[in-house]
Amino acid sequence: MKRIGVVTSGGDAPGMNAAIRAITRIAYSKGFQVFGFERGWEGLMMNLVRPLTPRSVGGIIQLGGTILHTSRSLQFRRKEGRLKAARNLARNNVDGLAVIGGNGSFNAALELSEYTDTLIAGVPATIDNDIFGTDETIGFDTAVNTAVVEIDKIRDTAISHERVFIVEVMGRTRGFIAAAVGLTVGAEVILVPEVKPEKEKIIKRLEENSAKGKRSGIIVAAEGIGDTRKLAAEIEKSTGTEVRLSILGYAQRGGSPTARSRLLANLFANEAVELLSQEQGKKMVGLQKGKVTGIDLEKACKTDKPLDLTLLKLADILAT
Ligand code: F6P
Repeated sequence: MKRIGVVTSGGDAPGMNAAIRAITRIAYSKGFQVFGFERGWEGLMMNLVRPLTPRSVGGIIQLGGTILHTSRSLQFRRKEGRLKAARNLARNNVDGLAVIGGNGSFNAALELSEYTDTLIAGVPATIDNDIFGTDETIGFDTAVNTAVVEIDKIRDTAISHERVFIVEVMGRTRGFIAAAVGLTVGAEVILVPEVKPEKEKIIKRLEENSAKGKRSGIIVAAEGIGDTRKLAAEIEKSTGTEVRLSILGYAQRGGSPTARSRLLANLFANEAVELLSQEQGKKMVGLQKGKVTGIDLEKACKTDKPLDLTLLKLADILAT
């Protein structure tokens, strides 16, 4: 192993920069050179590459986003795109490639590995925390904390005006953010894409709350549950309580990474460089029961990470 490439791909996540920094510095400490490909897979296809050195990655540990930029590439889904990328890996003599990203990026990396001898190590970074094989991804903790800070503010208005708020958090297909956020803001109701929302149940819960003297409430809903605007209107109509919708959106994807996200970035980077230096490819690094380890990339891509639905039951008890 002499030359390591780094690419960030898919949705940005806070902590990606910390991972780029750590991979570069750890690789240098082992005597490797490091090259960053820009704009995700686009950069691999277009050979947008620049050397990364311990000095050039200084001052970025605290920055959200990714200094390498990122993209969701349609061209890379086609064989010609992957062949181009493979050629550029060979042209740059890249022995090992660290792919910092989420599920989509890892599936693409797996396909790329069919066309190249360059070894690939996945570094899980997505706010959605939806990657099998790791208890947590880089960026998740930051996104959850961002949402919690905002919802605590919204709670002030909910209480003052005796209103119900639906707060939509990110998670197009999975409810990991919604479940963690809902539990930690004390949400009255949590809605996740994994469980079909039952309007009647939500209304019953709000009416019970009102009968108990609880005249405001927070419903945390993942974006993937459906039309939250329509849901707000329906609940308002049925309960007679004012219901407002607040969509937190992309603020959750940005911002300075929390200590937790930076720590995971450092630990994952260390394991990724270690795996590559041991010439182990098609691996993903992950956190399992407190230990950082390498797992089969294909298994990580092909397996769904289950959402612990007991969290929702717990939230229900806590919201009484
Ligand atoms: O993957 C993270 C995520 O934030 C999802 O929760 C969200 O649905 C999606 O990205 C939106 O990303 P984009 O607009 O960049 O495609």
